Amino acid sequence: MNIVKNMKIDKKGFIDLDVDRSIDIVEEIKRMRREKNAVILAHFYQEGEVQDIADFVGDSLGLSQQAAETKADIIVFAGVHFMAETAKILAPEKKVLIPDLQAGCSLAESCPPDEFAAFKNRYPGHTVISYVNTTAEIKALTDIICTSTNALEIVRSIPEDEKIIFAPDRNLGNYIRSITGREMVIWEGACHVHEEFSLERILELKKEHIDAKIIAHPECEKPILIVADHIGSTTSLLNFTINDDGMKYIVATESGILHQMKKANPQKTFIPAPPKDSTCACNDCKYMKLISMKKIYNTLKYELPEITLDVKLMDKARGSIVRMLDISKRLQK
Ligand code: 13P
Ligand code: SF4
Repeated sequence: MNIVKNMKIDKKGFIDLDVDRSIDIVEEIKRMRREKNAVILAHFYQEGEVQDIADFVGDSLGLSQQAAETKADIIVFAGVHFMAETAKILAPEKKVLIPDLQAGCSLAESCPPDEFAAFKNRYPGHTVISYVNTTAEIKALTDIICTSTNALEIVRSIPEDEKIIFAPDRNLGNYIRSITGREMVIWEGACHVHEEFSLERILELKKEHIDAKIIAHPECEKPILIVADHIGSTTSLLNFTINDDGMKYIVATESGILHQMKKANPQKTFIPAPPKDSTCACNDCKYMKLISMKKIYNTLKYELPEITLDVKLMDKARGSIVRMLDISKRLQK
């Protein structure tokens, strides 16, 4: 174990050890998970095979609820860093592992804590609502966290006369502002995947597939949201494809979600919304796709890399997440 610890995981971000070819990696992951009382939580944007091995696949809200409630001793987080960090904050007594420490998030990075603290100081007396796609430091500066599933309800839960700062996603913030009519000061952050969709190319595709419905995540830019037939979180988009009577969908969010859509609706057609640059695989979140079966295997075997956070920081950040979970619980009843 010490040999592995000395391999400078912090530089590479993962355990770069080959897996013996004779090993059945799926069976080994299942065996280690059983023996170590571990749980694998995966986001909808993960590779299909990673989603298929997980104990729970879901959106950011569902994943944080699972992390808060699990009886497992070890949580292996097949997602990005802020998600694993949120799990650690909610379950500090558990070992939280992430198969690659470099699995970040461009949206979380677009909100540096020192700049955000200065921004917050410019608007005294405002209630701070931050999207879960933020670092623990931002969560510690936040009054209440939201996800794309509950952002609308979280904003509506704030009394009408209270002023709001919304961070860090400008598209989600503008979308929520347009629906609620609430005055909000919005941080100018964005996600590298959701700002890459091309309205022009989506409309061309729609002409070719006149019967297709456009469905979009609220992190997309306003022109995309205007033409969308349905806007929602990953869970909401998935549920729409299940409950809707249409047969074809142009999907404006990260491509990983198509795996569950196809599984749930084998008779329907799903077309990834095209990005502005036709030569790139911009529908893939480069951070989400850093997680692989091999990395999950090594992570379970060596119990590394582990998420470690300062206890005081976790204590400061926890309140904003717990407030969101409490509101969500009340809404789900
Ligand atoms: P969801 O909460 O809808 O799963 O979204 C998470 C995310 O990172 C979107 O880019
Ligand atoms: Fe972050 Fe965008 Fe990746 Fe979601 S898709 S994890 S917002 S970089």
